[in-house]
Amino acid sequence: TPPSQDDLKRVAAHRAVELVESGMVLGLGTGSTAIHALDRIADLLRRGTLTNIVGVPTSKKTEAQALALGIPLVDLNSHPSIDLSIDGADEVDPHLNLVKGRGGSLLREKMIEGASKRFVVIVDDSKLVPRLGGSGLAVPVEIIPFGWEYTLGKLKKLFDGVTGFDAKLRMSKVGDVEIDVTDNLNYIVDLYFENGIELDLGSISDDILRITGVVEHGMFLGMATEVIIAGKDGIKVMKK
Ligand code: A5P
Repeated sequence: TPPSQDDLKRVAAHRAVELVESGMVLGLGTGSTAIHALDRIADLLRRGTLTNIVGVPTSKKTEAQALALGIPLVDLNSHPSIDLSIDGADEVDPHLNLVKGRGGSLLREKMIEGASKRFVVIVDDSKLVPRLGGSGLAVPVEIIPFGWEYTLGKLKKLFDGVTGFDAKLRMSKVGDVEIDVTDNLNYIVDLYFENGIELDLGSISDDILRITGVVEHGMFLGMATEVIIAGKDGIKVMKK
């Protein structure tokens, strides 16, 4: 039987964990791919193959998972320099730019991965896109709840005239209106670009961040040092 998508995620994660050395401070990613890395790290700790590891979790969910697995945790305040972060992504373009945050953890991920000497992204090959936004998935933007409709309006205005563009507040239950709240008690606006982002990524990043109610967005530009891609025909590695 061919490998499932989850098998591929595990393969990529296990390859990344080969880079972990005893004594390292690790950034622990969030999501269905990163959990395989957590499992593997916990396993190697239990066997004594790895020792003296501490992890900085990128979300409350990862924090709970790491605690349950017995991975010792620290935070970014006490450990502002991280040796290696391993995390999944929603999209990866040919220049190693990413979209992250479908799971809502983009802000802590960006802080922790930005503080890392090495940031290794683990994906199955369905995450590869020619252009960010190109898979029909959203580019998430974390905004503060205060004045959220104002901020949403500003984001819409920014992309006024871009064909196929849409922006929506993320909600888990649209019927009874339940707004998604991040670990940081903020909201998320999802930006949709029907044809992917055809504008200059650096300048739209700047434009989004310049809106006062915006905290951060899910484009991770120039941050990944390598991407490990698992596909049916094996593993490929993209390097900066
Ligand atoms: C969490 O907010 C995200 O950035 C995840 O890292 C990303 O969504 C990848 O998740 P999966 O590995 O579950 O696809």
